[in-house]
Amino acid sequence: MFDFLNNLYCCLLEFFNSNCSVFFLTLLLNTPIFVAFLYLFYTMKKKVLFVCLGNICRSPSAEAVFKGLVNKAGLSNRFEIDSAGTIAVHSGEMADSRMRKHAQRRGYSLESISRKVKPFIDFDYFDYIIAMDDQNYSDLVGMALSDKHIDKISKMTDYSKKFNYSEVPDPYYGGDQGFELVLDLLEDACEGLLTSIHNDF
Ligand code: 4NP
Repeated sequence: MFDFLNNLYCCLLEFFNSNCSVFFLTLLLNTPIFVAFLYLFYTMKKKVLFVCLGNICRSPSAEAVFKGLVNKAGLSNRFEIDSAGTIAVHSGEMADSRMRKHAQRRGYSLESISRKVKPFIDFDYFDYIIAMDDQNYSDLVGMALSDKHIDKISKMTDYSKKFNYSEVPDPYYGGDQGFELVLDLLEDACEGLLTSIHNDF
């Protein structure tokens, strides 16, 4: 019996003295720190979702314009930026070719694929949910599941600096001027939005 206990003691001692056990012990002790670090890193990122009706004209443009500004400011690792529509009619499609053409002329490449807002995911995940017009705004408020979600919703033109528009008008049924106006309004308001979020960091 004594021999057995003595052997067990020796085995345990050997295990705790081995490099392997030191490694696993260190890992075990550091896991909560690592998880906390990951959580901090995740929450440090500001997550922005731009929303319009079809997610093929205004919100993909807002996404591209804002990404361009954020990149220029060297802040791309501090942001997650996406866009969505309140309807699913154009889900899976690229941005409207007219919108892409006008955006391309100003150096923006519209890469996003249209998708509908996912209320159960998007309202928790994103920090800022930005509507292009009053109808998008009220549709989003209707989809929100709590007051905390509603507090995340604002309108793109709330951040305008130069322009005095209350909405980014829908260009879908109009001509070239409408698409240019969308880009003018977005370039202006995205600057204001970046300043506003930067103050929240
Ligand atoms: P968006 O423009 O909301 O800026 O993407 C529109 C896209 C599609 C339609 C309307 C507006 N539509 O009626 O299909």
